[in-house]
Amino acid sequence: MRGRTPCRGGAVWRPLQAVVAAWALSLLGLPPAQAQTGSVAKGQAIFESRCVACHSLDANRVGPALGAVWGRVAGKAPDFNYSKALGAATHVWERDKLLAWLGNPESVVPGQAMGYRVELLDDRRDVVAYLASLSKNSAAK
Ligand code: HEC
Repeated sequence: MRGRTPCRGGAVWRPLQAVVAAWALSLLGLPPAQAQTGSVAKGQAIFESRCVACHSLDANRVGPALGAVWGRVAGKAPDFNYSKALGAATHVWERDKLLAWLGNPESVVPGQAMGYRVELLDDRRDVVAYLASLSKNSAAK
C-alpha cells in the first residue's frame, strides 16, 4: 500500500469505462479491440509474411486488393479477374465469413481459386482484426 490512495475511484471507474466503450463500439457495429477478436499488430505481421505473396492492400496481384475488403461484397474488387464461383458470390466479408474463408476457402465458396489456408484459429483472428482495422481507418472516405 506504500504511497497509494485506495479511494480514488480509478479502480472502479476504469473497467466501467471499458465496458461502456465496448458497448458503444458494438452499437456502431465496430469490433471491440478485445483479445477474442485478435491482435491488429500480429495480424499485420501475418499478412505481411503470408498474404503478400499474392495480395496487396491497394492493388490487384495474384489475388484481389484487400485494403477495403472488410464490409465489401465478395468478388467485387474493381478490375480483378475472379473465379466464376467467387465472382458470383453475394455475401459480405465480415468477421465470421473471413474466419471461415481463411480456414478453408472452399467451404465458403466451392469452386473458388485461392489455394491457401491459415491453419491456426488465433492467426485467423489476428488477420481478420487487421483487415477490420484497415476499414475503420478509411471509414471517412
Ligand atoms: C497463393 C496465393 C494466395 C495467398 C497466399 C493468399 N491468397 Fe487470398 N486470394 C487469392 C486468390 C487467387 C483470390 C481470388 C480467388 C477467386 O477468384 O476465387 C483470393 C481471394 C481472397 C479473398 C476474397 C476477396 C474478395 O474480394 O472477395 C480474401 C478475403 C483473401 N483472399 C484473403 C487472404 C488473406 C488474408 C491471406 C493471407 C492469410 C491470403 N488471402 C493469402 C490468392 C491468395
